[in-house]
Amino acid sequence: MNYTGLSLEGKVALVTGSARGIGKTLAIGLAKAGADVAISDLEEHLNGAQSVESNIQDMGQRSASYALDVQDVAQIQEAINTIVKDFGRLDILVNNAGIRQRQAALDVTEENWDAVMSTNLKGTFFCAQAAAKHMIPQRFGRIINIASQFSLVGAKNRAAYCSSKGGVASLTQVLALEWIQHGITVNAIGPGPTETPGLLQADTRTQEELARDLSENMPLGRRMNAEELVGAAVYLASPSASATNGHLLVVDGGWTSR
Ligand SMILES: NC(=O)c1ccc[n+]([C@@H]2O[C@H](COP(=O)([O-])OP(=O)(O)OC[C@H]3O[C@@H](n4cnc5c(N)ncnc54)[C@H](O)[C@@H]3O)[C@@H](O)[C@H]2O)c1
Repeated sequence: MNYTGLSLEGKVALVTGSARGIGKTLAIGLAKAGADVAISDLEEHLNGAQSVESNIQDMGQRSASYALDVQDVAQIQEAINTIVKDFGRLDILVNNAGIRQRQAALDVTEENWDAVMSTNLKGTFFCAQAAAKHMIPQRFGRIINIASQFSLVGAKNRAAYCSSKGGVASLTQVLALEWIQHGITVNAIGPGPTETPGLLQADTRTQEELARDLSENMPLGRRMNAEELVGAAVYLASPSASATNGHLLVVDGGWTSR
C-alpha cells in the first residue's frame, strides 16, 4: 500500500491495561501500523504484559512493559516519565484500562462507585494530563480514550459504569478543546459488546439469556471481537486524523442505532 496517511512509523504509543483484552489487541495493532509500543498494566498482570511485549518485539518494533495502576496518580506520572525517558518521546496514548461492575442502583456502595470512577474516569484524566505534558513541547499528540456504547445510552444495573463512560465522552470533548492548539487531538472509541477475558468473566448469564440479549440489542447478531476496533484506533492515532478532534467513534455493531 502506498498510502502513508495511516502509518504510525516513528511514533511511540502507550496503551494502559494492555496485558489482555482490547488493550492487548490495540497495542499489537498499533505496532503492526509501525508504532513502538509501551505496554502497561497492574503489577500483578505484568506477566501478561511481557508476553504482549515479546509479541511486538518479534514484529520488529520496540516494546517494554511497565507497572501502571491508573488509580494511582503518582504512579501514572512516574511511569509516563520513565516511558518518555526509555523511548525518547510519547506520541500516542490509548486510555484503555477500565473495570466493569453490575449492581442494581439501590445496591451500589461508595466503594463500588469509587472503584469504577477512579479507574475509568479519574485514571483516564490523569494519564491524559501526564502524557500531554510531554506532547505539548513536541507539538504533536494523539490521545484515544476507550469509552463505550454506554457513553451514549443507559443500561440497567450499571449506574457507576455508564456514568464513568459518559464522563469519558465529556472529558474527551473538553481536552480536545484545550489541547488542539498544541497539536494534540483527543478522541474516543465507543466499543459495543466485545469478547474479552474481562467481559466473559463478568457475564454470568445463561447461553439462552445471552442469545436473547444479542437478538434484542445487537444488530450485528453477535459480540464483536477486539480486532474490529483496531482500524478505528490506527486511524485516530494517525497523521490522517489531524482534524478529527473531540469525536466519539462508536464501533458497536449498530447497538446505539436502534
Ligand atoms: N469488552 C467490552 O465489551 C467493552 C465494551 C465497551 C467498552 N469496553 C472498555 O474497553 C476497555 C477494556 O476492556 P476489556 O473488555 O478488554 O477488559 P479486560 O478486563 O479484559 O481488560 C482490562 C485490562 O485493564 C487492566 N486494568 C484494570 N484496572 C486497572 C488499573 N487500575 N490500572 C491499570 N490497568 C488496569 C486489567 O488488568 C486488564 O488487563 C475498558 O475500558 C472497558 O470499559 C469494553
